[in-house]
Amino acid sequence: MSEPVIAQKSPYQVKLTAGTYYWCACGESKRQPFCDGSHKAKGAFTPVRFDLNEDKVVWLCACKRTSNSPFCDGTHKKL
Ligand code: FES
Repeated sequence: MSEPVIAQKSPYQVKLTAGTYYWCACGESKRQPFCDGSHKAKGAFTPVRFDLNEDKVVWLCACKRTSNSPFCDGTHKKL
């Protein structure tokens, strides 16, 4: 399986309202950190759905190597 593209080597801090989101797992989306459908061209990746029950500031992984997707777990520091 191919590796995802590194969108950037630091997480995205985003302020989100309560709702459902799709985090880009392939790294190809032009709407980082969210899915724009670009994964369909690669085939090996699917976006990660996550739900927020309240408005919240979150740190979303941009290196696409986290073990706690969609959230940053610090893995980018080792790249
Ligand atoms: S940006 Fe991917 S683990 Fe931090």
